[in-house]
Amino acid sequence: MRRTLITGGAGQLGVALAEAFPGADVRPRAALDVTEPFSAEADLVLHAAAWTNVDGAESDPEGAELVNVVGTRNVVALGAPVVYYSSDYVFDGEKRSPYVESDAPAPRSVYGRTKLAGEQEMRDGWIVRTSWLFGWTGKNFVRTMLRLGAERDEVRVVDDQRGSPTYVGHLAEATRSLVELPGGVWHIAAEGDCTWAELAAAIFEEAGLACRVVPIKTEEFGAPAARPAYSVLRSERPEAPRLPHWREGLRECLARLEGT
Ligand SMILES: NC(=O)c1ccc[n+]([C@@H]2O[C@H](COP(=O)([O-])OP(=O)(O)OC[C@H]3O[C@@H](n4cnc5c(N)ncnc54)[C@H](OP(=O)(O)O)[C@@H]3O)[C@@H](O)[C@H]2O)c1
Repeated sequence: MRRTLITGGAGQLGVALAEAFPGADVRPRAALDVTEPFSAEADLVLHAAAWTNVDGAESDPEGAELVNVVGTRNVVALGAPVVYYSSDYVFDGEKRSPYVESDAPAPRSVYGRTKLAGEQEMRDGWIVRTSWLFGWTGKNFVRTMLRLGAERDEVRVVDDQRGSPTYVGHLAEATRSLVELPGGVWHIAAEGDCTWAELAAAIFEEAGLACRVVPIKTEEFGAPAARPAYSVLRSERPEAPRLPHWREGLRECLARLEGT
C-alpha cells in the first residue's frame, strides 16, 4: 500500500484527490505550509497546493513564487515521486490547435511563469498540465456563475478566451491511472473546448437559470493578468488518460452541488 500525501488538501482539487485516494494523508494549508521545509513519510505526493490567484500574482510576484516554486522545491526534497499540477497558462495562446506536451511554453503572466518555474523544480514524477478547473468546493467559475445567475438578469462574460473546463473529480480519477504510467509531462484536460461565455451559458442552461450571457472582449473585462486567448490542451502520448467532455463534468458537478 503506497503512503500517499496530498498537499493543498482543502483546495478544490485537493478535496477531489482525497476522495480518489482513500487513506491518503490529506494536509490542508493549516497542517502543512509548503513554503517551509518539512518532513513526511510518503511514497507518493499529490502536490495540489499552489498560489492560484492569477490576478493577485501580478501585484505579489514574490508571494506567488514562494508558494509555486519554493513550495514545489520543498515537496520534491522529500524524495518521493511527485504529481505536480501545472497549468495551461504556461502557454502564450498564440496557437489555434491544441497544445501538446512538445509545444514550447511561453507564459504571459506572473502566475504562468511561477507554474512553469515549479515544473523545473521537478525531479521524479509527473507534471500534469490541466486547465480551467472547477469542482463542488472553493472558488471557481461554475460556483461564481451559479451565484450571479441567481441574482441577476444578465452577466457580461469574456468570449475571446478558449479552453477546456476540467472537472476536478475527473482529474482526480485520471491521476489514479497516471501514477501507474511513466513520469514526465502529461496534458490532462476535459474533452471539448469553449469560451468562458459559452461555459456560462451552459451552466445557466443546465441549472435552469434564466440569466442572459452578454459576450464581451478580454480588454473590456480588464483583468490585471494577461491570459492566453487559446489554451486547449491535448496529449500526444498515446497512453494518456482521457477525460470525459467538459459538459459531462459540468453535469456531474451540478448534481454534486445539488446534493450539498
Ligand atoms: N484552478 C484552475 O483553474 C487551475 C487550472 C490549471 C491548473 N491548476 C493547478 O491545479 C492545482 C490545484 O488548483 P485548485 O484549483 O485546486 O486551487 P485551489 O482551490 O486554490 O487550491 C489550492 C490550495 O493550496 C493551498 N495553499 C496555498 N498556499 C499554500 C501553502 N503555502 N502551503 C500549503 N497549501 C497552500 C490553498 O490554501 P488557501 O486557500 O488557504 O490559500 C488552497 O487550499 C494548482 O497547482 C493549480 O495551479 C488550477
